[in-house]
Amino acid sequence: MDRNLFLHPPTPQDFSVINRIQRQAFLTPWTDELVQAVLRHSRFTVRVLALAENGARHISGFYIGHPVGRGYNLDSLAVDTPFRGRGFGKLLLEDWLATARSQGHPLATLQVNSRNHAAQTLYRRYGFKAKRILPRYYNNGDDAYEFELETPFPSGLIHPPLRSFCPTPAVPYAGGANPQPGL
Ligand SMILES: CC(C)(COP(=O)(O)OP(=O)(O)OC[C@H]1O[C@@H](n2cnc3c(N)ncnc32)[C@H](O)[C@@H]1OP(=O)(O)O)[C@@H](O)C(=O)NCCC(=O)NCCS
Repeated sequence: MDRNLFLHPPTPQDFSVINRIQRQAFLTPWTDELVQAVLRHSRFTVRVLALAENGARHISGFYIGHPVGRGYNLDSLAVDTPFRGRGFGKLLLEDWLATARSQGHPLATLQVNSRNHAAQTLYRRYGFKAKRILPRYYNNGDDAYEFELETPFPSGLIHPPLRSFCPTPAVPYAGGANPQPGL
């Protein structure tokens, strides 16, 4: 099987896939307008994970992050349902942590639904700790936990076989602002 993974900033064509993934992944998805605005704004770092397999390209997940004070916040992270359980969530999380590290942030923060045990397990694996509860954080009334991780952030935890087929970004990028604003 011919298979490669690419982690890169979104292309204009990726907007609709990101939007579909986040709508399916979250109980309280962002509006189209909010997704558009975030993807356009240079303050946010957005990366999509593209899987090229047997001549077809699938966007299998994405993350969105931005700096807040001394921290670097994970605003959204999701893996498309058919691609879950293959280490892609870990890959995206590690790239986000690498971006935070490369920008010199001493703290990584995120908010996770108090009922989302899969995501909490993922974050705890990397050493994140729940620091506070954010009551009724989501617009359906659900609470969130704010998770934090201080530097040094862990690195190199990706399962070796996964790392071996994800060495090349499709578009060269340096962590930070999206190199292509006008999405
Ligand atoms: C959470 C999510 C990103 C995980 O993505 P994934 O690609 O399936 O995760 P991985 O295959 O990289 O697994 C990473 C680890 O997460 C944990 N995990 C993933 N799915 C899990 C589940 N259903 N139950 C418990 N733990 C789970 C495990 O610790 C797993 O490591 P392991 O398989 O070595 O035990 C994915 O389920 C998702 O997109 N969920 C909907 C959106 C979401 O909740 N985003 C997070 C918002 S804060």
